[in-house]
Amino acid sequence: MTNKLKLTVRNKFTRVKTARGRKLSSKNWLQRQLNDPYVKQSKQDGYRSRAAYKLLEINQKYQIIKNNSNILDLGAAPGSWSQIAVEFNPKKVIAIDLLEIENLTDVDFIQGDFLDQEVRNKIIDLIGDEKIDLILSDIAPNMTGHKDTDQLRIMAVCEQVLDFAKDILSQKGSLVIKIFQGVGFPEYITELKQLFAKVNTYKPDASRSKSAEIYIVAKDKK
Ligand SMILES: C[S@@+](CC[C@H](N)C(=O)[O-])C[C@H]1O[C@@H](n2cnc3c(N)ncnc32)[C@H](O)[C@@H]1O
Repeated sequence: MTNKLKLTVRNKFTRVKTARGRKLSSKNWLQRQLNDPYVKQSKQDGYRSRAAYKLLEINQKYQIIKNNSNILDLGAAPGSWSQIAVEFNPKKVIAIDLLEIENLTDVDFIQGDFLDQEVRNKIIDLIGDEKIDLILSDIAPNMTGHKDTDQLRIMAVCEQVLDFAKDILSQKGSLVIKIFQGVGFPEYITELKQLFAKVNTYKPDASRSKSAEIYIVAKDKK
């Protein structure tokens, strides 16, 4: 798996002409996609999204994905983190997203809003008497473009994920969660440190430098 992190595709830069009817923002998006080595690599490796390499990097550094464990993937669409989870011969992978995802073998998918208690009840039903060993949250609420609003929105999700983790994570369980730094961030880290033995923040190379996202890796639930 490690060699998947060594990007081998080095094509020339592809310039996109502004077609009539195509907005500048979509032209820029298309140009970025066409020239993004992680997009190219994900096609070669059969992953559904470039986000795969963020998790592979995180796992290479922190070894959070273990064989024979129960894994919950929040904000899973289109599914590359679940694809990686399945490669580790887990006991169970449960994936949640607002959006539908194309069927993934060995993944129990629930379409719905993680903030909705009904969805959380479904997760609890699926896991039965067991606990989750690893929660992955790559949830990104719809961006308004207003930095402070977006940061508050993701903080609200992170709080809910942490509350859920308190109940459903096994002892020694781990959490990887996407967050934006800003209001409430230091307090969030403090709260995590009360619950987990090890808490680190990490920005994978695959995370675009312009993106405010970083990941918190919290290991060994007390
Ligand atoms: C960056 S994408 C995740 C990419 C994914 N990790 C992968 O590897 O394919 C973020 C996802 O979070 C989902 N999302 C946002 N808010 C959510 C919520 N409240 N409940 C469930 N999913 C949510 C979005 O629909 C989106 O698909």
